[in-house]
Amino acid sequence: MKVLVIHGPNLNMLGKRETDVYGTATIEEINSMIEREAKTLDVEVAFFQSNSEGDIVDAIQGAAGSYDGVILNPAAYTHTSVSIRDAIAGTGVPCVEIHISNVFKREEFRHKSFISPVAVGVISGLGINGYLLALRGLVNYLIAHAASR
Ligand code: DQA
Repeated sequence: MKVLVIHGPNLNMLGKRETDVYGTATIEEINSMIEREAKTLDVEVAFFQSNSEGDIVDAIQGAAGSYDGVILNPAAYTHTSVSIRDAIAGTGVPCVEIHISNVFKREEFRHKSFISPVAVGVISGLGINGYLLALRGLVNYLIAHAASR
């Protein structure tokens, strides 16, 4: 099983950026943590980060057919991007949406996600541990739906 982890805009700044909200782990540390978990689940993982909406759309389109599923932290594009939502809906690639912070506890503009209606599920507010929960959730989903895909 192959999973692509996509990190959206400004997540390359994790560890330095608003550490009271996002914690002190860097994106490299988060990727290593996911990689370790993936090994225990016998899953192959790859990672992609971009600050550009179109690059994320391209990554999702490219994932369809090459990966079994996607873990996506769309970051600020969560609240604005019809094109990322359409890429997930259009390709049908199973996608788990994850947020480090609890977006529902924050500003009102973060309460709306364009991605959630086309995601398999959503994890929000459990810190970087949420990435591991997203991976386990996606793997369970893919196993359960293997016959129908
Ligand atoms: C985020 C939440 C978003 O609202 C924000 O724009 C981010 C990160 C999170 O992981 O909590 O950049 O997706």
